[in-house]
Amino acid sequence: MIRDAARDFAQNELKPGVIERDEQQQFPAEQIKKLGELGFLGMMVDPKYNGAGLDAVSYVLVMEELSKIDASASVVVSVNNSLVCYGLEEYGTEEQKRNYLKPLAAGEQIGAFCLSEPEAGSDATSQRTTAEDKGDHYLLNGTKNWITNGSTASTYLVIAQTHPEKGHQGINALIVEKGMDGFTVGPKENKLGIRGSDTHSLLFSDVKVPKGNRIGEDGFGFKFAMKTLEGGRIGIAAQALGIASGAFELALNYAKARQTFGKPIAQHQAIQFKLADMATQIEAARLLCLKAAWLKDKGESYTQAASMAKLYASEVAMKTTIEAVQIHGGYGYVKEYHVERLMRDAKITQIYEGTSEIQKMVISREMLKE
Ligand code: CAA
Repeated sequence: MIRDAARDFAQNELKPGVIERDEQQQFPAEQIKKLGELGFLGMMVDPKYNGAGLDAVSYVLVMEELSKIDASASVVVSVNNSLVCYGLEEYGTEEQKRNYLKPLAAGEQIGAFCLSEPEAGSDATSQRTTAEDKGDHYLLNGTKNWITNGSTASTYLVIAQTHPEKGHQGINALIVEKGMDGFTVGPKENKLGIRGSDTHSLLFSDVKVPKGNRIGEDGFGFKFAMKTLEGGRIGIAAQALGIASGAFELALNYAKARQTFGKPIAQHQAIQFKLADMATQIEAARLLCLKAAWLKDKGESYTQAASMAKLYASEVAMKTTIEAVQIHGGYGYVKEYHVERLMRDAKITQIYEGTSEIQKMVISREMLKE
């Protein structure tokens, strides 16, 4: 039922205008508002904090359906659910949940997760942004890069270094509000894909953040980021899965309709081999996504499963979208057939929330743990 609701929403609300939003780099504001009303922005949050109280398996189903049509919208759903709402619900104080989680889970506001910096992407412990302890507040200084929901968010979870001598154990996670003095949003990034999403750098210059806005104990920020990203990787894996399955459905329909040499191209073995590979890989990616979500729902460790799902699903998204363009031939190279956009959108799934190389590091470290 949840999957069907997401599928209908994607067809009826996301599909119209998706090409124009991509071309004009237009944020899907109306659509995100409606997704909030449907409960899709706080899917796994307890209803007492305005969430929908669903599980991670449902979240995967929704992410796949939305991403088949519009990955620029689904990344907002993923960041808000996995990185911002989850982080606040799991590690925030009651006051933080009341003030920040409730409007985010209700979809009245959007959140952003701010870890990456000009010189700290994969190497996330090398934070240059500083949060100096000033007694009752932190003084925040630095720059964050490629932040999803950069200008549209109201609440920002910002990772910063407080005790450089302690390395990753000196890092904190702070809740920063839009409008705090000294906080400015940089220009919008002009991206290859997910062009409708709102990606900016953020600048912090002597921003006073109250102590009560720190998440967890002093020095918990790096572990907070790592734990939060684990769930985020399930969301992005499901996004990659959706991009792949969306491109596959388009390619299959096209192959059944397009005639060459006297028959539909789906009747040529060269195309059948491609379709068979695509379908098999998508099914494997789907099972990895569902397994990671199922482990999370059972309260078991899902660190490795989430990274495996993201690694594999993002590779499948890239391969499948390239093949979908190939099956469409010349039509695949023009915008109205959608597959070129899906191919551009697929690439980011191998980069954000940890590159493929980072997922391999996480998978092997889990494997080699004593
Ligand atoms: N859970 C809990 N703790 C964890 C952890 C996890 N999953 N992973 C690491 N830690 C802990 C370690 O136990 C260690 O703590 P102790 O020293 O107390 O034991 C500490 O964190 C440091 O760990 P490592 O020594 O393993 O750290 P590292 O420097 O080798 O890096 C890494 C580990 C996995 C490579 C990490 O830096 C990483 O994940 N990098 C990628 C960051 C990333 O995904 N960025 C994406 C940006 S967000 C984004 O894209 C959002 C968006 O807009 C869509």
